Amino acid sequence: MQGSTQNVKPRVLVITGAGISAESGIPTFRGAGGLWEKFDAARLATPEAFAEDPALVWHWYRERRAGVCRAEPNAAHRAVAEIERRARDFLLVTQNVDDLHERGGVSPERLVHIHGEILVSRCTHCHQETRVKDDDPDAELPRCAACGALLRPGVVWFGELLPEMEVARVERFLKAGPCDLVLVIGTTAAFYYILDWAERAAGRHGWLAEINPEETPLSPLARLSLREPAAVALPRFIREHPQFFEQGA
Ligand code: OAD
Repeated sequence: MQGSTQNVKPRVLVITGAGISAESGIPTFRGAGGLWEKFDAARLATPEAFAEDPALVWHWYRERRAGVCRAEPNAAHRAVAEIERRARDFLLVTQNVDDLHERGGVSPERLVHIHGEILVSRCTHCHQETRVKDDDPDAELPRCAACGALLRPGVVWFGELLPEMEVARVERFLKAGPCDLVLVIGTTAAFYYILDWAERAAGRHGWLAEINPEETPLSPLARLSLREPAAVALPRFIREHPQFFEQGA
């Protein structure tokens, strides 16, 4: 499609961050009321912090797990799933460790959790992964059912590499061709790879649109910036841009 009005469905990349889950009651990291205002990332979200005090780190992650399990997907999560249904080719890259995109209806095979998943525990020794449904912040330190070693939360901490296979999935999607539409929603875009993927996916002719109440490093590159909460702006974006979503639907 690439900017023309042909009767074909679009190829779409969506990138999301904590802001898309804000209206589901999950706190963001940066900005007023954000987690990194109240908590020290260096004491809670690094491999060194876990080695030093695994009980403190687990307590914090288990409280956040409980919050994720109580939360429900909002209109923006559901709108992303609607975009997947209307796209010719689609990938969602989320920095969020919650499972609200899955519960909002996005297919797991079209979803990359680039910072891991909070509802997964991974063995520090044999790397076996276990998925949990809910958690008790005051429970004993969790141990691996296979080898008995300490489990850790299945998220990416500061100072760690991104999961190789997930990066490869993003790269495969980018190599398969340019996108007609790149939507970047609810992220400060603080990491270089977010900017890089958004820019490369849009290429020279794709539409780069940002949904975020605040300006970000991506704003100068965006063809459209919607300065509103995602649950309001994204469903309206779909309605108001039939050139992407109604042709060939
Ligand atoms: P941030 O907390 O950095 O940014 C949240 C963004 O969402 C901000 O730009 C807000 O302006 C915006 N926002 C707030 N409410 C919104 C709403 N209702 N609708 C749309 N946007 C809204 O979160 P991320 O950019 O996701 O990493 O943070 C990236 C990574 O930094 C996280 O994955 C985490 C964190 O440290 C790790 O833990 C490795």
